[in-house]
Amino acid sequence: MARTDGKAVFVPYVIDGEIVSASITREHKKFLEAELETIVTRSPHRVEPRCPYFGRCGGCVYQHIEYEHQLALKWRQVKETLRRIGGLKEPPMRPFIPSPIEYRYRNRITIHVRDGVIGFFRRESNKLLAIERCPIARDEVNAKLADLCGSNPHDGHYTLRVTDGPRVFTQANDGVAAAMLDLVDRLIPPAGGTLIDAYCGAGFFAKRLRARFERVIGIDWDEYAITVAREDARDNETYVVADVEAELGARLRSIASASHEGNSAVIVDPPATGLTKKILEILIEYRPTQLIYVSCNPATFARDLAALEQSFGIDSITPLDMFPQTAEIEMVVKLTAQSSYKRLPAPPIVR
Ligand SMILES: C[S@@+](CC[C@H](N)C(=O)[O-])C[C@H]1O[C@@H](n2cnc3c(N)ncnc32)[C@H](O)[C@@H]1O
Repeated sequence: MARTDGKAVFVPYVIDGEIVSASITREHKKFLEAELETIVTRSPHRVEPRCPYFGRCGGCVYQHIEYEHQLALKWRQVKETLRRIGGLKEPPMRPFIPSPIEYRYRNRITIHVRDGVIGFFRRESNKLLAIERCPIARDEVNAKLADLCGSNPHDGHYTLRVTDGPRVFTQANDGVAAAMLDLVDRLIPPAGGTLIDAYCGAGFFAKRLRARFERVIGIDWDEYAITVAREDARDNETYVVADVEAELGARLRSIASASHEGNSAVIVDPPATGLTKKILEILIEYRPTQLIYVSCNPATFARDLAALEQSFGIDSITPLDMFPQTAEIEMVVKLTAQSSYKRLPAPPIVR
């Protein structure tokens, strides 16, 4: 980001500290967009992108940045977002958990087919760019892409996966997904009581933690994901097809009235839009002892945090690099109820 005439100018494919010449391509009321023309002073963190589609494909925008520096930039972005939107002066940030591999990590990609073009969306466009190989995808996925390209496919969307499992949400980077499970396992103290895995998908977190709780309840509105979760469920696991907004309050109410009150843990792993006002109110009202918020969007997380702070203290924020070479950021936040025994009426949340 640069500045001119008091306005911010966004120049993609530039690295902080570089001096470049760029031309303004679009003017908005509050900011400008520009395209890079020449690099006058090059960043020591600049590297050669590995992908022939870099700059045209909408997927990876950080391939020109050395991996360590990608992590430093994302870390700073999380911190600044939490300060600016969440109002946190000193967010308790932990170091980034990197991806064990920087390329060939994606175990699934979604390919679009339209009018004979097989590929991804072009940058800032709804037009397709033909793709033969994606360097952030695993070799098995690229083999399936080659098969698709050779099969004269109909128009539509095709999710190509390493394993031909059920069509439910799964984490895209196995190495980072494993690190995320280890992290959540470490963050939740020796437990007992009930764990609610809200937005559980096929039970990714619930399965890992089921041995540590008397009872585990998973909630997801995707019935296929819940069917998968139920397949190897043990006696202490319950999976419910429901909207988290409709189900979470009732479940927390019944935990609060049962004998193990004060010893409940909730994991929320919502989509990028974050939590709804109603869900925030439920969490604030019932304040489970431990709350883990898994977020793929620092901005919506920071917004939600401003509300959650009424009932919870923030212990730690750990960013994870699920998607190297892209601007995506995943993070795991550990919160603890400030007083688990006193249930106060929820204060209004203003958005
Ligand atoms: C980011 S995924 C997380 C899945 C799981 N925690 C995992 O790691 O595999 C989000 C999940 O939330 C579910 N979902 C989104 N909105 C929901 C809602 N309002 N109520 C219930 N489930 C919802 C989706 O079906 C999806 O499985």
